[in-house]
Amino acid sequence: NATAQQEKYRPQFHFSPKAHWMNDPNGMVFHNGTYHLFFQYYPEDKVWGPMHWGHATSKDMVSWQEQPIALYPDSLGYIFSGSAVVDTKNTSGFGKDDKVPLVAIFTHHNPVLEKQKTGRHEYQSLAYSLDEGKTWTKYSGNPVLPNPGITDFRDPKVSWYEPQKKWIMTLAAKDRIAFYSSPDLKSWKSESDFGTDAGAHGGVWECPDLFPIMHDGKQVWVLIVNINPGGPNKGSAGQYFLGDFDGKTFKSYSKETKWLDFGADNYAAVTFSNTGNRSILLGWMSNWQYANQVPTDPWRSANTIPRELGLKTFGKELYLTSKPIKELDILNGTAFTEKNLMVKGQVDLSKKAGNPTGLFRLDLNIQKVTDFSIVLANKAGNEMIIGYDKATNQFYTDRSKSGKTDFEKGFGVKHTAPRFSTDPNIPLTLIADAASIELFADGGLTVMTEIFFPDQPMSELFLKSVNGVVVSELKYTALKAARNQ
Ligand code: FRU
Repeated sequence: NATAQQEKYRPQFHFSPKAHWMNDPNGMVFHNGTYHLFFQYYPEDKVWGPMHWGHATSKDMVSWQEQPIALYPDSLGYIFSGSAVVDTKNTSGFGKDDKVPLVAIFTHHNPVLEKQKTGRHEYQSLAYSLDEGKTWTKYSGNPVLPNPGITDFRDPKVSWYEPQKKWIMTLAAKDRIAFYSSPDLKSWKSESDFGTDAGAHGGVWECPDLFPIMHDGKQVWVLIVNINPGGPNKGSAGQYFLGDFDGKTFKSYSKETKWLDFGADNYAAVTFSNTGNRSILLGWMSNWQYANQVPTDPWRSANTIPRELGLKTFGKELYLTSKPIKELDILNGTAFTEKNLMVKGQVDLSKKAGNPTGLFRLDLNIQKVTDFSIVLANKAGNEMIIGYDKATNQFYTDRSKSGKTDFEKGFGVKHTAPRFSTDPNIPLTLIADAASIELFADGGLTVMTEIFFPDQPMSELFLKSVNGVVVSELKYTALKAARNQ
């Protein structure tokens, strides 16, 4: 509704719940023309609590309609993160009268067992829906995967592995990923483990994902592993590995971690199920470091924009790239372009943009690269800075003067990200909503997502460079609010 959209800091085209606490996106699935987004939700408070699965639906992943809560905690525990699949072949037997079941595979987190320190308080369970995700029935045989004695044993991401006609579950098991397989979603067999000797281990492994992307005629498997804390700019973040998967074992091309997003605010990001050969990623736009303290009311947290993933070789390395999904173009409002704009000192784009709301997309191609920055500002003196530093060859964001920052001591700081591309030009896309920026540099090779809380909307926009850069192409597009409800 219109009033909800006017609340201070309310994202205008990112999904956020009308009220109360949200964390990880869960069970994202495309089915019968509708995208479903479930999410970790606590409907009684603005801080984390006993978890439910909230629900929202969309026809285009841009405008979302919030739906009634899908899953409530029960005697087996809270409903933690997980995934959903369309069980087209009715392998589970949950289908009825030709109705294809939507099956949710999630973690039950049992607070009673947790208190008893059994170390076995997390296990995997099922629920199914025969009415387009409106109502859900929990499976009477839950849990389907009991805990083998691992304290953190959660966030199942399930997908169909066609070559062997079986389901694969990718599960976070504290410091590794555990792969299981099943013919029917109900009985699970251990296949292999990955990761004790690979990747970043500054925190617990959570919310994984496994899916293939075609690259030069070859299938490359992407394994996403979220980690908290231990991210490149502290707190929560997503790392990924590229490699091969044969239905049993994931073999990574490298043991080194690569980061999905170097900003502080893209956590628990995983992809939608059932979107054909598109891999569409969506993350929770916050960080456990301060998620419970951010100054929004009556809700907490939003998601990132959906991003289409691809692969790109740079030097000898293969990287994942992220780009805003093309569906977002529906938000495009008035635009202007510039060619060969010299930026030495500062160029003020505010007048031309004439956009008091500060919702926009900026596409730039920067030539003769030296230091430069993009500054979002307002009459209250707030500044959100996004830039590139030539000496260190890093992109950065600086939200130290971006508005309200005092709710957590680590919030108002500068964050950096390496530049991988060696191209003499820097192409970049910046997407700004009321309380976030998302930077896609070098065709999505380096990504930074950051939230901020300005005292009033960021209505001004500057390009700055002390030594001078040439912006060979600039396109500014004002963005409209999505019709979220
Ligand atoms: C990640 C996470 C998951 C867990 C959920 C609980 O943010 O900790 O591992 O399932 O949140 O809300």
